Amino acid sequence: MTAGTPELRAAITNWAKTKLKATGEFDVLPLIGSKELVAWLPSLLQSKSVNFPEIAYPTYRVGAILAGAREAAVAISPEQWPHADLTWVNSPANPTGRVHSDEEYLKAIEWARANNSILVSDECYLEFGDTAVPTSILQYTNGNNHNILAVHSLSKRSSMAGYRGAFLIGDKDLIARIREVRKHAGMMVPLPIQKAMTIALSDETHVVEQRARYNARRATLVPALKAAGFEIEYSNAGLYIWCTRNESDWDSVSWLANLGILATPGNFYGELGKSHIRIAMTATDLQIAEAAARIAAATKV
Ligand SMILES: Cc1ncc(COP(=O)(O)O)c(C=O)c1O
Repeated sequence: MTAGTPELRAAITNWAKTKLKATGEFDVLPLIGSKELVAWLPSLLQSKSVNFPEIAYPTYRVGAILAGAREAAVAISPEQWPHADLTWVNSPANPTGRVHSDEEYLKAIEWARANNSILVSDECYLEFGDTAVPTSILQYTNGNNHNILAVHSLSKRSSMAGYRGAFLIGDKDLIARIREVRKHAGMMVPLPIQKAMTIALSDETHVVEQRARYNARRATLVPALKAAGFEIEYSNAGLYIWCTRNESDWDSVSWLANLGILATPGNFYGELGKSHIRIAMTATDLQIAEAAARIAAATKV
């Protein structure tokens, strides 16, 4: 149960080769959601120091805290990264929707090899490209996956957040180590969920439909936000619009709240986000259209 059924392992392996362009030797491991992995990987590996992006999903930091590790919120480029046992990258990023370039991935891999750091790429939004095409770190390893892991989640790809189904792909020795610890520490994926994951991974149609849905919602909201004075930053992929009116994030959140629209203050993702807000395209098409109409009406007044 910890390693995954042969069918699920084959489905993940096949998907990693065809979709992610993974090469060389690698192993796979099912997870009960990628949040659990993000929160517990530093503990499972007994990491002493963890690097994560300076504007990021808060659970990277939580994982470092739970492990009692030194934490560092770092810029995209590795030049200033402190040494760390474990380093996270995230593309497409939550909350910014920023997508890593080939060069950024290659530099991160080069840094990790030089510093003997485990490099984990959180790619749970990979299927939702819009104005940029997201790629996996596994495409850049040249078949040498030593110390490299990619994490994916069916919460996003297949809208299965309630199922808790995700998986790791990468360095076979490292995955063997994590699997061994997990045999004793638990967090194995229940069999019915493993079966559902296998089926979801074998179908692409629903992913294409969902991508079109998110991107149409972004296309509805962006012009309304721009007309209301928001500058859109990145937002090239994923489920979010990251934008600023060069005011406090709470002022932007309040302005939208007065229109009955809920957005997230950027400071939730780090100090650098304090003038930004994150808007999620997870509301229904009707609600998104209504939100755009309310923003447009408020802007005209
Ligand atoms: C960057 C990132 N990683 C991981 C997760 C966790 O997703 P899940 O636990 O549903 O797989 C999220 C959820 O929002 C996320 O934004």
